[in-house]
Amino acid sequence: MFLCVSPNPAIDKRLTIPTLLAGEIHRARSVHSFPGGKATHVAMVLRTLGETPHWIGPCGGASGEELIAGLRALGIEPHISEVKGKTRTNLELIDDAGKVTEILEPGPELSADELDRFERACRKLFEKYQKSAFVLFSGSLPAGAPADLYARLIDAAKQEGCKTFLDAGGEALLGGIEAGPDFVKPNAKEAAAALNMQIDSVRSAATAIETLCELGARSAAISLGKDGLVYRDGAGRSVLWAAAVELKAKSTVGAGDSALAGFAKGIASGLSAEETLRQAVACAAANCIAESPGAARLTDIEKFRKQVKVQTVGAKR
Ligand SMILES: Nc1ncnc2c1ncn2[C@@H]1O[C@H](COP(=O)(O)OP(=O)(O)OP(=O)(O)O)[C@@H](O)[C@H]1O
Ligand SMILES: [Mg+2]
Repeated sequence: MFLCVSPNPAIDKRLTIPTLLAGEIHRARSVHSFPGGKATHVAMVLRTLGETPHWIGPCGGASGEELIAGLRALGIEPHISEVKGKTRTNLELIDDAGKVTEILEPGPELSADELDRFERACRKLFEKYQKSAFVLFSGSLPAGAPADLYARLIDAAKQEGCKTFLDAGGEALLGGIEAGPDFVKPNAKEAAAALNMQIDSVRSAATAIETLCELGARSAAISLGKDGLVYRDGAGRSVLWAAAVELKAKSTVGAGDSALAGFAKGIASGLSAEETLRQAVACAAANCIAESPGAARLTDIEKFRKQVKVQTVGAKR
């Protein structure tokens, strides 16, 4: 059972426009809305990989209802924690040159009561599914949430025997790692900021991964955008790197989320570290050519999986 935890969910709106010019009026050529937020992208890709993922997040207002209906239509099982504020909308503007601009709303501020209810609803699911659950925590924390929210939830999930996965940046990443998640996947920028080091090569990403593991993560990956994905599994024998698939990306938004789904499914299925990394890169690549974030197609994933080459970066220190 996969449970995708979305503390700050969203509706994703993709607009296509001729050219983005600051201070000008733009008329969109096309507008599409989809269920969004990082955990939703993860759940969508897990669904495509043949799972029936569960999803939990605070939802409010008409946009919250749209999100819930959208999740159900995708075959994702939503567990809702109702809040007064409206679920946010994240804008993705794609211009004719293929340039992607994102505008992310902060999302509603949650009251202490709402946060408490969300946390209790998560704990109830951890208790229900115990060691059969793979719990994936993704994205930013809502305004009003304590910085240690992920740490508390990871701790609670681990106490019930669940496996825990974390994809976040900043305080949420550092705090969460201290709780000892089974796997973390920041991107290079997030990892560099959290560890206060430069990550500009596969080698420096491998060093950063070792630091993430020393800080508490059992295994870790760092995504380097078009420069690929670096991974060390739980056995920690060696660090692996796979180059990204060469393609013309429509948008890379959600590529990291899709990679996380590939990792989680690979780890849950007992695939080897090499196969797990191959699957993560293939899911990420399929996301880059998809109609919307998280909408990777299985045929693309299978096609790309065959193209991914995995190399060893170096033995563990
Ligand atoms: N331009 C690209 N071409 C091919 N593959 C890409 C490209 N950009 C990203 N990828 C693939 O997607 C993976 C994740 O990308 P990235 O590092 O941008 O994640 P991210 O910043 O966490 O994304 P998000 O948080 O929006 O999901 C990369 O490791 C790579 O395999
Ligand atoms: Mg990311």
